[in-house]
Amino acid sequence: MDSNAYFKIRINSIIPEKPLTFDLYLKINDQLITYVRAGDRLEKEKILALQARDSGSHFLVKESDRKAFKTFVHEQMISSDLNVRQKAQLLRDSSMTLVEEIFEHPDVNVALDNSRPIIHQFVEFMDAEPEAMGHLISLSGHDFYTFNHSLDVGIYSLGLAQALGFTKQELDEMGIAALFHDIGKRQVNLDILCKKGSLTDSEWAQMQKHPQFGLVILNQNKNVSDAVKAACFEHHESWAGNGYPQNLTAAEIHPFARIVAITDTYDAMTTQRSYNVPMKPFEAVTMMKEKLAGRYDPEFLKAMHSVLFKLKAS
Ligand SMILES: [Fe+2]
Ligand SMILES: [Fe+2]
Repeated sequence: MDSNAYFKIRINSIIPEKPLTFDLYLKINDQLITYVRAGDRLEKEKILALQARDSGSHFLVKESDRKAFKTFVHEQMISSDLNVRQKAQLLRDSSMTLVEEIFEHPDVNVALDNSRPIIHQFVEFMDAEPEAMGHLISLSGHDFYTFNHSLDVGIYSLGLAQALGFTKQELDEMGIAALFHDIGKRQVNLDILCKKGSLTDSEWAQMQKHPQFGLVILNQNKNVSDAVKAACFEHHESWAGNGYPQNLTAAEIHPFARIVAITDTYDAMTTQRSYNVPMKPFEAVTMMKEKLAGRYDPEFLKAMHSVLFKLKAS
């Protein structure tokens, strides 16, 4: 099987009882079988059973049907058949496997191009539905897929940037910046990335190079803005100094990078990754405000608190 000829989708991207506009394949033991033909539909019970088994990452759609899949998702997003919560779930799940391409696709430029319309869809959704961000945030951080980090940091960053008054155009850029903030980790040895327990000094030194590695990758694409590059290169800088790689302080750090610094840490604290016990949202923000205060833009951190607090109130 030519893996470039197909892309993965989550089973949650399929709306029950809606005729599909593309063939859906299932991969079992490296064999591809046609699971649902275009024009046929999946019953609700079947989808629930598949969700329970969580075989989402084994569903594939032909690359030549990518447009049909996007249109299928888009039509559900603007239809009145789904409520805001269901739309948030659909958007998040249909985006997730596409976001995996950021780390898996051999050509980062293709991943960048494919990501732009996805981010735009998030921004449009946030614009059309005032409660969209609350639902998107509450869906974040609750499952265990490896690549969620970038998408969740993307969602939190859009929420924070929206609260800070960014325009729709700036939000489009912010979303891309957050999605690609850790792109340099493509260059870090997988054993180091997945290591449980603490890193040795030399492993840590390699890990800390991911902002530089990322900048090199993003510099190869002429459509990447300076703001997106700054978020990648400066997201481990610290408001009070002592960050890396440039040891910048306060306003020297690009606002996009100041946002990602907050949302990146918040996501790491609140999500069940391989070995840590996740913190509750408010525990995490309180810890960032009290124990880690010097690291973040205080105004931005306040805004992050309000984004999450609004969410809790809604
Ligand atoms: Fe990072
Ligand atoms: Fe990160």
